[in-house]
Amino acid sequence: MNANTVNEILQGLSAPEKYISSKFFYDDAGSAIFQQIMEMPEYYLTNAEQEILAQQAGDIITETGFKGPFNVVELGAGDGSKTFELLNYLDKQNREVTYVPIDISKAAVDGLAADFAQRLPNLTLNPKVGDYFEVLNGRLKSEANPSLLLFLGSNIGNYIPGDALDLLRLFHKNMRDGDALLLGADLQKNPEVIRRAYDDPHGITRNFNLNLLDRFNRELDANFVKEQFDFYCHYNPLSGEVRSYLISLSDQIVDLADQQISFKKDELIWTELSKKYSFPELEGMAVTAGFEVQRHFLDSRSYFTNSLWIK
Ligand code: AVI
Repeated sequence: MNANTVNEILQGLSAPEKYISSKFFYDDAGSAIFQQIMEMPEYYLTNAEQEILAQQAGDIITETGFKGPFNVVELGAGDGSKTFELLNYLDKQNREVTYVPIDISKAAVDGLAADFAQRLPNLTLNPKVGDYFEVLNGRLKSEANPSLLLFLGSNIGNYIPGDALDLLRLFHKNMRDGDALLLGADLQKNPEVIRRAYDDPHGITRNFNLNLLDRFNRELDANFVKEQFDFYCHYNPLSGEVRSYLISLSDQIVDLADQQISFKKDELIWTELSKKYSFPELEGMAVTAGFEVQRHFLDSRSYFTNSLWIK
């Protein structure tokens, strides 16, 4: 980890209300645990989005209004399993499409490109590794063809509202008039369904959170004792927010990157926000960021939306 990243972590752990950014979940071990989360029956988000993309790809593409060749640009592509549904549909329709998956993980992008090259031999692939703000910068504006930007998987829910809006404004700034954004967002619903997806009975989400401590021990020369921490999360149906925390189980001092961090018994470290949206909230964000909402595509249980916005 570079000096800026170390400072960012130290700053969070020295704040009066301690926090760690959820972006630190995703080292190799954390990404593997996230795969396990996506396979849990309680974590309905993945299947819901897969269902939408598999069953409504035709309508989604029709609503973009794109008639000729276009680009599908995916931010944070991961393993691209859901996007396969959309690209498979386009392949069957003989649509001329260039797929640009963007991810910070080279392993993820290489794996995805190899997999899609084999399964969709007619698809033009232009994978990019890097921070998606840097990779996106100026790219769409200079494209000859329109672009459909994909930001799937409820990733928007991991941004605090102000940052979510800034991100959407940044997308908007980088898009051409007529370009489309397909945003995957988790919807407010029976709070018990949401609680079970995060406070899961298998302890997988707990491992996901505790893996942060393993990672810091490995990469920041820290000496967290995992048994001295526990996981807590709750869903607030009034705000639509799942908040996840690590709890210190004792008064303790932990070394981290040549600093000492003290924890009180029962002190919390906030690790993640997973925001669930209402339609008015989503539509308000779209309009504030400069988009027009074209249509919401829902799964059969109305748990999740892939919302199509046009610049
Ligand atoms: C990646 N992100 C959208 C997931 C979410 O639902 O907030 C991460 C996650 N955290 C706990 N379970 C899954």
